[in-house]
Amino acid sequence: MMDINAMKKAFADAFGSQADGLCFAPGRVNLIGEHTDYNGGHVFPCALTFGIYGLIRRRNDRTMRFYSMNYPDAGVIESSLDGLQYDRAASWTNYPKGVIWAMQQKNIQIPSGFDFLIDGDIPSGAGLSSSAALEVLTGLAVRDTFGLSLSMIDLALLGQKTENDFCGLSSGIMDQFASAMGKKDSAIFLDTKKLAYSYVPLALRHAQIVITNSNVKHSLVSSAYNERRQQCAEALDRLKTRADIRELCDLKPSQFEAIKDVIGDPLITRRAKHAIYENDRTVRAVECLKKNDIKAFGQLMNASHISLRDDYETSCPQTDLLVEIAWSIPGVYGSRITGGGFGGCTVSIIDSDAIGEYEAKVDEQYEKETGKKAQIYVASVGDGAHRIE
Ligand code: GLA
Repeated sequence: MMDINAMKKAFADAFGSQADGLCFAPGRVNLIGEHTDYNGGHVFPCALTFGIYGLIRRRNDRTMRFYSMNYPDAGVIESSLDGLQYDRAASWTNYPKGVIWAMQQKNIQIPSGFDFLIDGDIPSGAGLSSSAALEVLTGLAVRDTFGLSLSMIDLALLGQKTENDFCGLSSGIMDQFASAMGKKDSAIFLDTKKLAYSYVPLALRHAQIVITNSNVKHSLVSSAYNERRQQCAEALDRLKTRADIRELCDLKPSQFEAIKDVIGDPLITRRAKHAIYENDRTVRAVECLKKNDIKAFGQLMNASHISLRDDYETSCPQTDLLVEIAWSIPGVYGSRITGGGFGGCTVSIIDSDAIGEYEAKVDEQYEKETGKKAQIYVASVGDGAHRIE
């Protein structure tokens, strides 16, 4: 939990007045269903209690002023409501600016600018969706300040539009949806094609969700991510000549096996295979969890990692090592890389009694083999974005 009083003081120091509202939006961890959300498949994320807090105050002119307690050196960054454009130099403020731009694109105009101060505790660049949290937070704070009639799902979609069309990452809807719609102690089983969802209680008995940050941040994430998306689109085009489908995940694994030769390119075939089998694994994993079969759930997580490592190629040696350390411990049910990939975090389901052994092994091996320190967090699953004051 942030120090809200320190935030209020910083707001007064930066903007010379008190804020009108305080909101929160969480980061997320995805348990299974990776790189399926832009292929019409299922995902199974949950919102974390880590997140971003934002204080907002309405202004009487067309200026927006932004300040982040996480980037104090950047100082107050200003922008007009008019003529919004992505600007590298505007650093983190491209996300909140992008949300206002996305609203304008949908003909949602706000009458004046605002002052906005944020402070967050999501490790950044770790694949826990700090950018989605910031988008959803901005949408919520602005919605409440100006009385806009937008649902939480609308805010998630505006966040995705910001990411795709303002910031240039062709991401799916999972991260923003999880941040906007999360529920304490539950994961969200989301069909990304229909945006139909249900909550599944995380009854993990004596086990916990453990997140391990590899501290590998890849600078090429967005180009490699967009390339994967492009490869899936290519596979879809070719498969469409043999099957009446709109998205890759419309195919079951057996249907894919029967027609995959039409793709005619081994790399593109492996990309499509990952998405289609991962979607199937996700649906099965949710069934296992509902039946309290954590062991089977964990095995599907492991299979997800192998597929991301070998077929989708979004893992890296450091996250592979973390997962292998986890797999070597008897009390670990499952472990895999989570999020967009190319570094970032792993997620594991670990019996409470085995967490100490896992921590000790990571401590002993990870730095020795990679030269980096890993951070381990026992996750608590919280509610989606909401107003606090
Ligand atoms: C990133 C994207 C999501 C999703 C994941 C991979 O987090 O923002 O939309 O595609 O990668 O599952």
